[in-house]
Amino acid sequence: MDQTAGAGLHPALEEIAVAVARETAALALSVRERVVGRDRLDTKSSATDVVTEGDTACEALVRERLAAARPDDLVLGEEGGTSGTPSPGQVRWVVDPIDGTVNYTHGLPWFSVSLGAEVDGRIVAGAVVEPVSGRVWRAARGHGARCDGAALRASTLDDLALAVVGTGLGYDPGRRARQAALLARIAGRIGDVRRTGCASLDLCAVAAGWLDGFYEHGLHPWDHAAGGLIAQEAGAVVRLPGADTDGLGAEAALAAAPALAAPLTALLVAEGAGGVA
Ligand code: IPD
Repeated sequence: MDQTAGAGLHPALEEIAVAVARETAALALSVRERVVGRDRLDTKSSATDVVTEGDTACEALVRERLAAARPDDLVLGEEGGTSGTPSPGQVRWVVDPIDGTVNYTHGLPWFSVSLGAEVDGRIVAGAVVEPVSGRVWRAARGHGARCDGAALRASTLDDLALAVVGTGLGYDPGRRARQAALLARIAGRIGDVRRTGCASLDLCAVAAGWLDGFYEHGLHPWDHAAGGLIAQEAGAVVRLPGADTDGLGAEAALAAAPALAAPLTALLVAEGAGGVA
């Protein structure tokens, strides 16, 4: 039976995502020694939004491996952009070769290689691999989420006042200030706050129940592609950037324990989340 078609498509894409992300994670680690503290190859949206030798080498490897494994697929990568517009049913890989680049360049261990496979605008499989710990987070739509073989379940907490909530801050200084102001307004109403600097791992932490919730404005598709699916398959409620039907703002992403999604959303909206972007 062709495992790359029909019901077997999502798990088959998950396997490819894991294999390519694992190999790329090894490359990211081997290049890191040359990157930490220097080699700021280039900057993108702001002076702190850097692209390193690691980012470009890792994305090149991902593209090479995906082209060999699935030559008809498209790729949207953080560094190299898109290779075209997908036609109906065509797979497009959404790739962050190194998510958590600032951590990567500063010697902090929280960065990842993230690959999501999208079909008709929906992520159907993905993997997030942490080069330093070696953890492999993975999911296929309809088949659940796992970390190193163990099934993932989101937190069952229902009291927002006890919730440990992760968030992120963007590269644009103006937006970062608005994000920090929003965080200051909600901080006294939740249990605690974390900012790891790696959105894909924040979403995996929600999947594992390590974080009770996470939100951030301004994430790119490659930041949340795989992690969003992993959180959703673990039972979290996931809201991605798109139509602003809840007042959080079109650029907001949120993932939370099922019982916390509504109260966290309501708190963020009441404190002005819609004005952050
Ligand atoms: C960044 C990280 C960070 C988040 C930023 C992202 P990058 O991705 O995920 O946690 O707060 O918004 O841009 O640039 O390291 O791939």
